[in-house]
Amino acid sequence: MASSLRKPLIAGNWKMHLTLAESVALAKAVKDGSANAPGEVAVFAPFTALSVVAEVLKGSPVRLGAQDLHWETHGAYTGEVSANQIKDVGCQMTLIAHSERRRLFHETDENVNKKLKAAFAAGLVPVLCVGETLEEREAQRTFKVLQTQLEEGLKGFAPAALAPLVIAYEPVWAIGTGKTATPDQAQEAHLFIRKTCARLYGEAWASGLRILYGGSVTPENVDTLMAQPDVDGALVGGASLKVPGFIRIIQFQLPAGAKR
Ligand code: 13P
Repeated sequence: MASSLRKPLIAGNWKMHLTLAESVALAKAVKDGSANAPGEVAVFAPFTALSVVAEVLKGSPVRLGAQDLHWETHGAYTGEVSANQIKDVGCQMTLIAHSERRRLFHETDENVNKKLKAAFAAGLVPVLCVGETLEEREAQRTFKVLQTQLEEGLKGFAPAALAPLVIAYEPVWAIGTGKTATPDQAQEAHLFIRKTCARLYGEAWASGLRILYGGSVTPENVDTLMAQPDVDGALVGGASLKVPGFIRIIQFQLPAGAKR
């Protein structure tokens, strides 16, 4: 189900890395290196750096995102940051339900659903992360896990509200391990996600939905991953912190005869 309607998106997730000075330097390099990129580019900076990175990216097509948010608009929630605050600092996007949030900080599908609603209400583009652990893959439960994360996370929306959503398939066993999913494994999971979304909210929406792959993406493997018909981009962790490697990922090149 390749679609030229789906503009590729390459995003860097900086996780809990970088000082302000390092963030500014990396944002400048990403901005400069994005000229004539084949797709859109985004960076997900730590909360502390959003303000300075927003300043660097002002007027550039590079999108800025936060790594998480709280679902309430304001209130006594010490340590949390709301969608409106994220928007106010200059973000257009936010990650939701990264596997590190699910695994290490007990993110539930119920809260994921509330966070998605809050992001949409604030006009942010959410990137909903889904993916199975190694144990779940080995027990042949990959599709079941993805199905539950999608059904529960995406519960109760009007289809039109979901239009801006981006999904990131990030198999937990591939994150930070150097064990990238093979292009076939990524394609199989992405196709399953698209079909599940079509069943939940209709073929028209699902065929335009961008699904990113994340998990040990590198300058060496990005081209073959991006050649898969249902891989619409990449969510890059470790390799997004390094220039010029991340610039090479942004400037991916489809092999001759690629299906997308
Ligand atoms: P790595 O690219 O370091 O494997 O991380 C992937 C990731 O978690 C992006 O959100």
